Amino acid sequence: MTMAPLAAARILLIIGGGIAAYKSLELIRRLRDHGAAVRVVMTQGARKFITPLSAATLSGDSVRDDLFSLTDEALIGHIELSRAADLVVVAPATANLLARMAGGLADDLATTVLLATDKRVLVAPAMNVRMWLHPATRRNLDRLESDGVLVVGPDSGPMACGEFGPGRMAEPQAIVKAIERALEAGPPTDSGESVPKSLAGRHVVITSGPTYEAIDPVRFLGNRSSGRQGHAIAQSAVGAGAKVTLVSGPVALPDPEGATVIHVESALQMRAAVEAALPADAFIGAAAVADWRVADVSSDKVKKDSRSAPTLRLVENPDILAEVSRRTAFRPAFVIGFAAETQDVTANAKAKLTRKGCDLIVANSVAQGTSTFGGERNEVQLIDRDGVESWPPMSKAEVADRIVRRLAAELAKRL
Ligand SMILES: Cc1cc2nc3c(=O)[nH]c(=O)nc-3n(C[C@H](O)[C@H](O)[C@H](O)COP(=O)(O)O)c2cc1C
Repeated sequence: MTMAPLAAARILLIIGGGIAAYKSLELIRRLRDHGAAVRVVMTQGARKFITPLSAATLSGDSVRDDLFSLTDEALIGHIELSRAADLVVVAPATANLLARMAGGLADDLATTVLLATDKRVLVAPAMNVRMWLHPATRRNLDRLESDGVLVVGPDSGPMACGEFGPGRMAEPQAIVKAIERALEAGPPTDSGESVPKSLAGRHVVITSGPTYEAIDPVRFLGNRSSGRQGHAIAQSAVGAGAKVTLVSGPVALPDPEGATVIHVESALQMRAAVEAALPADAFIGAAAVADWRVADVSSDKVKKDSRSAPTLRLVENPDILAEVSRRTAFRPAFVIGFAAETQDVTANAKAKLTRKGCDLIVANSVAQGTSTFGGERNEVQLIDRDGVESWPPMSKAEVADRIVRRLAAELAKRL
């Protein structure tokens, strides 16, 4: 693995035509503060938002924006430009620029450089939430990620266009951290074996499935959770390079490949397994933990009595999500809880966020008529302190991938 510390790094920064271009000026300043050399290429769109003069002044180098400039080409040819860098960073990466990259176009200096480079490429997408969630953008991003392109952000929150959701460019500080990680990973190899993953080096503890609360050796109180969503998140987190500990209640699913799986039955066992698995960078409580357990579990099978049915006395189970969220020592940097509600999904999930002290709630409706329990698809809302984000219906695998992407972005900001 080639180590290229930021202090000696040569960064080629491509600025796209988005409203977030002004943040790239701050990015140039920060990179230079760290000692990196920054050379800037701007798209024609970018010139509408910031001036080449600002970028040139901050970078200490002339800014290039014309593929067919005789002067620039004589100074340093476009192929050389693409190779004389340790890392190519695209910030902001507009929807248009991502589409052109995914399609392999080379119709201006920025895309020609991106197609000709043999160096690692990191993109910081920035766009309106509808553009970000559009299937075309999703497709382009999937294609770029499978080509080995690294992605930082986007963040979620209020946007310049007045809407709310994912699409805001990651903050310059988070982009600098992503640049450092990309440099540590070194250049791409033909076998692709050193593609750094967004959760590489992170430990993620996930709970999944139902819990069974024993009544006697034969009977239990359970619930309808299948574990599909939690297991899909575990698989996705493994794919993103995380070390994953999955604490699973009784489910009829295979163990996700690459995860350490602890099988438990009851809420008390689940809590003990989670405690033993910590510390972790993130905790995702996707299990449907029983709120109550039977107070006096019979050691023998309760016999049918013709005179009266037995009465079960219940006691409250520990609240694993709240306990993890409120830890004073070794609290995971990001805690995600799930809310399965049958009514007032958003209001109940918001209340749960505050009550439990977690950072994000993934809420879904499990009311009659929805096929969330045991089904392949899910429709969720994400609730954090800034507001609510609604995702369209999609497969549980797609929900898992998106949650993992969001988690990686949040951890990049915090750690
Ligand atoms: C005011 C304004 C703001 C824009 N902001 C964005 C943006 O944040 N993200 C984006 O993908 N496109 C944005 N666009 C559209 C792009 O500027 C447009 O797609 C342009 O062709 C991008 O070119 P480039 O990707 O080659 O830089 C914006 C357009 C306008 C007029």
